[in-house]
This record gives sequence, structure tokens and C-alpha cells, in this order.
Amino acid sequence: MDRLRYGFIACVSTALVASACSSPASTSVDGVTFPKEFFWGSASASFQIEKGNTNSDWSAWVATAGKIKHGDSPDRGGPDGLAHIDDDLRALTDAGQNMYRFSVEWSRIYPTKAAFDADTPDVEALAVYKQILEKLKAAHITPMVTLQHFTLPIYFSDPSKNSEPQGWEKPETAAAFGVFCGRMGKEFGGLADYWTTVNEPTVAPLGGYVSGDFPPGIVLAVDRFFTAIKGQARGAAACYDALHRSDTIDVDGDGKAVLASVAAHQRTFHPSDPENENDVASAERVRYLSNLWFLNTLTRGDWDDDGDMLLTGPNDKVADPAMKGRVDYIGLNYYSDTLIQFQGSVPLFKGLPTRDHLPTGRARTDLAWDIYPEGFETVLVEAAQYGYPIIVTENGLADASDKNRARFIGEHLLALGRAQKRGADVRGYIHWALTDNFEWAEGLCPKFGLYSYDAATGARQARGSVATFRSWIQAGAVTKAEVDALAPYVAPVECTK
Ligand code: FCB
Repeated sequence: MDRLRYGFIACVSTALVASACSSPASTSVDGVTFPKEFFWGSASASFQIEKGNTNSDWSAWVATAGKIKHGDSPDRGGPDGLAHIDDDLRALTDAGQNMYRFSVEWSRIYPTKAAFDADTPDVEALAVYKQILEKLKAAHITPMVTLQHFTLPIYFSDPSKNSEPQGWEKPETAAAFGVFCGRMGKEFGGLADYWTTVNEPTVAPLGGYVSGDFPPGIVLAVDRFFTAIKGQARGAAACYDALHRSDTIDVDGDGKAVLASVAAHQRTFHPSDPENENDVASAERVRYLSNLWFLNTLTRGDWDDDGDMLLTGPNDKVADPAMKGRVDYIGLNYYSDTLIQFQGSVPLFKGLPTRDHLPTGRARTDLAWDIYPEGFETVLVEAAQYGYPIIVTENGLADASDKNRARFIGEHLLALGRAQKRGADVRGYIHWALTDNFEWAEGLCPKFGLYSYDAATGARQARGSVATFRSWIQAGAVTKAEVDALAPYVAPVECTK
């Protein structure tokens, strides 16, 4: 069950399951070239980099003993992003990047329900996010603003009351999120065209209702998980509509004031035992629910209410106008693969993740995730069938020694190039993360940053891999020979806190 949030490929074709799996084996490329307008960026998320967030479900979760490894908190030793805006801007510029994906914290902007209802936002919070956007503009870095990245205001999601519906389980949360997005579109639309409505809509409910290591902290409540997913789909659609209504300012003059999407966490899934047809079928179900359900809903408007992979149920809908076309591009996050084992008693999934790594001996990250660039190609080709341009909104690894990062990025860019040859229209690659940060239940140990920071002064320090990554960005190209010439992967580093 550990790391279920990253867990959930097998290839059985059914009505609603994409056919990417059955497409031909990967075409090899000697290298990949990128157009001048390709987005190169890094990402962060408010709760993971800021200090002083006290009004969300995650603030309550962090304050609850035993929930976070080593009792870590972003407030004690975190990167303090809002106090280091200029340092982070310099880091982006020094890395040669032209896009920054960051999130605004709903519960910082509206600390109480009364403030939300009366629309009396915290002026300092609005000002600090505006300052980030203005500085990005001055530095010619295109912002991508995420409106919900795992956290919810405590007045919508309270982990201490988790026997009652919380967060996205409640219809009011999706409606309120739409209102919030509309206000943010009006407030920041003059400085931003690119938006992420919700980050990884399947991952937070997996952590919250299946593995239980995210708030509200329930284990194996699959029905509640699915209710939360549906709530997020409604919230993402409401957010998309509200943004398109409220933000009418086309910042970059490309004729589009709003380009919005979810950032979908896509993985490959393999059956634990490829000879076992139950494992094969449950891996397929998990792939469907994890990679496809949400995108089917927000692109085609196909609403599979009972999650049975068919659109024939009493509450199922085909091309529902209330859901269809609620993305302008596909934001795609990719990290690794998961093995799935049949477990008949688990509703919906009929299986659970066993390991995060394939049986073939692969190099691993510091969080023991397989380094599996082939899967990146697979999920990009899978997502391409929806017919939208794709922006990679997250890809990265925990690598404290930084001995694996450059090769990891190079191999993933080559995989991206192979996916492009197979029809994926990829417009950008955003690395997770700009700086080290608070990695949710794993605390401050995992080092995902292109930059480390000094815990006492907050000074940012480029890791060695930044120079290699920057040289590829500047050349607008990566060759296989360059990646092959990098040192081989080394074993992961144990966190020594
Ligand atoms: C993704 C999350 C991001 C970060 C990375 C490592 O699932 O969106 O916040 O935690 O994993």
C-alpha cells in the first residue's frame, strides 16, 4: 500500500480504453530538436514552498502527529518561496527557462469561509502573487498558474471530521472552486494566459481515501475516492468555464486569453504477473481509472458514472455538454510505473499496487521509483489520442546526489522526441521542481530541486545538472550521443536527516 498515491499498463482494448498500448514499439531517435517557442520550465506548488499557510487541510495534516516523515513541516526548514521570489526568478533565468508553473494558495487568499463568501481576499496574499507575475513578465518568463494543487481550505476539507464527506466529496466545493477560479481569472488574467485548474485529480483522492497518507486520511474507501474524483471533474469544468468568462486579456497576443487544463498524473501500469489474467485485467482497470477516466470526461464529455469502462450505465453520459471540451491543452505529469496485483475484494480497481518497480533491474530514484523513460513515451502517445496539444507540466526525480538528474532529463527528452514522432504534439517540458521543497507525506527529505537551498539563509544553489539541462535548452536539441556519454546511473541516496 505504501506509495499508492504514485501507484496505479496492461493492454486489453475495451470501449473506453485508449489504444496507445497496442501501438507499435517505440521508434528510436538519434536526437530531438525543439522549436524556438517550446516552453522550458520548472514547477512548484504553494504549500510545498511557502511558509505560513495555516488554513488548509494540509496545514492541519502537517500539525497532526505521525502524518509526515520526521515530523517535517514547510514552516521548519522549507524553501520559503515567498521570501525568495527574486532568488527563484534568478534561478529560472540562470537555468535558461522561459516558463514557471506555480500555484496560488486558496486558503491564503481567503483564510476564512466568511472572507470567501464576502469576497474579501487577503490583500497581502493577492499582492505577493501579483508581484511574482509582474517579475516573471519583466524577466520574459511565461507563467502557468495552478489554482488547486492538492490543498483545500480547511472550511471545505477538515481532516478532523473525516467520518463525514470532506473536500471534493461535497458538491459545494466544486461550485466554490469555480467561483474562486473566476475571481483569480479577473485578478491575474492581465498577467497570465496559461492555467492549471486542478493538479493531479486522481492522486490527491488516492492519498486521501485509499492509501490514507493524505488528508482526510481514510484507508480503502474506494467509493469515497470515486465521489471525490467526480467532484474534482465538476470543479475542473466549473473552473475552466469561470476562467474563460473572467479572463479576457490576451497577454502574449496569440489570440487566446486563456489556455487552461488539468495537470494529469499519467503512469504506466503493468500486471504483477503478466501470465495471470486477473492481474492483467485489474492493471487495465487501474490504468483506465487513473489515466483515462478524467481525460475522457473533460475532453469528450464521456461520463462513466459507475467506472465500469463502458458508457451504458443509467447515469453514464456520452458527449455531455456540461463536461465536454473543458481543456485547451493536456497538462501531463509523468514520474514512473506501477505493478498491479488482482484483489477481487477491492471495489472498482479490483487490484492494488504491489511495487513501484518493474521486475527488470532498473535504476531507481531516492524514493525508490523506477527510472522508466519508456513509460513517458507511452503516456504521451496515449494522451495524444485526445487530439490536444500537450504540455508536460511535471517530470523529475528525487536525487540528492544529483548524479542521476542530467541523464534522467536527457532520457526523458529523448522519449518525448520518440512520442513526437508517433504523433504527440508536445509544446513544453516543465521540470519538477525548481527548488527542493516539502514533498507531502515524505516531508523535506526527497530532493527534487534543480536548485538546493541553504536552510538558514535560503540562498539557492544550482545543482550540477542545471548546466547540462541549460545547454540542451540553449541548443534547442538533445542528441542520443550526448545522453549516452553521461555517467551511468548510481544507486539512490538514503535520506540522512
Ligand atoms: C507530483 C505532485 C508534486 C510533487 C511531485 C513529486 O505527484 O504533483 O506536487 O509532489 O509529485
